[in-house]
Amino acid sequence: MIQQDLERIREEARRRLSEASVPEAVEKVRVEILGKKGSLTEILKGMKDVAQEDRPEVGQMVNDTRAAIEEAIRSAQQKMEEKLLKERLSAETIDVTLPGKELPQGHLHPNTRALNELKEIFVGMGYEVMEGPEIEKDYYNFEALNIPADHPAKDEQDTFYINGDILLRTQTSSTQIHAMEAGRMPIRMIAPGRVYRSDAVDATHSPTFHQVEGLVVDKGITFADLKGTLDEFSKALFGKDTKTRFRPHHFPFTEPSAEMDVSCFKCGGKGCSFCKGEGWIEILGCGMVHPHVLEMSGIDPKEYTGFAFGVGLERIALLKYGIDDMRLLYENDARFLEQF
Ligand code: DAH
Repeated sequence: MIQQDLERIREEARRRLSEASVPEAVEKVRVEILGKKGSLTEILKGMKDVAQEDRPEVGQMVNDTRAAIEEAIRSAQQKMEEKLLKERLSAETIDVTLPGKELPQGHLHPNTRALNELKEIFVGMGYEVMEGPEIEKDYYNFEALNIPADHPAKDEQDTFYINGDILLRTQTSSTQIHAMEAGRMPIRMIAPGRVYRSDAVDATHSPTFHQVEGLVVDKGITFADLKGTLDEFSKALFGKDTKTRFRPHHFPFTEPSAEMDVSCFKCGGKGCSFCKGEGWIEILGCGMVHPHVLEMSGIDPKEYTGFAFGVGLERIALLKYGIDDMRLLYENDARFLEQF
């Protein structure tokens, strides 16, 4: 009787395990047969009705059955694990011959690219990069730069005033004063930054744009240093065949002052539509730091001399990358930006 039951249970276990396709089904077999209320456990409880002399034999049979079922469960579990592993591996298979997914790549703004180039050139020549505040005192933007109270640049039509004394800087030249006041000699710095002017927007104007200021102050600095440095800079930026020329000009904070042109890097100086037939392109303003400017910032002009220059960053970007309208630089249309 018990023997038949055991046979039936063992058969049931075998059948259910062979049909099981998920680990839960195997576990269910274990619980329902070997568990506390399982069918095999029930049979064990019936042992008390078995005659004393038959018990060892029946006990052995029950144990054998239990061992056989446990073994079958283990092997079913193992098979299932192998099957799951195989499935997972095949699902995770990577076809290395498939083309990669293209990741969208960002682009540097033309201003950023131009600035990076400028920085690299001047840092390579031993300059440090400084930054000054965009909100300035009148003193730093005008007075200390030798720009008198009645100068037209101070007119409200040109300058954004916050109040009588505080304004948005109209030029990065104000950074020169901060550098000189700091009093660490020699000075060899460039100062890039945003400037503000009360201008209407058109292809060549914007109420906010960027300049890069340059300042060198040391003993024995001459106009030859200025020319050599800016010539070197122009060759590095526009190509080694670039020539420079300096035209006399006026800036209140430099004496003498000049504007520097570079030979047209499109036509090499012959004259083309890019340089409007001139062969030359104006690039920057420069000059020897005015002795009065040095003096006001606490530097003895008998001991020290210096030169300064100011470049419009947008102008460089437009020229270098052949962009003909400054407004494109501020609209940040991705279709424009992704060309750089
Ligand atoms: N600050 C001048 C401007 O905004 C540019 C300039 C000219 C800067 C001559 C200089 C310089 O340092 O020496 O037009």
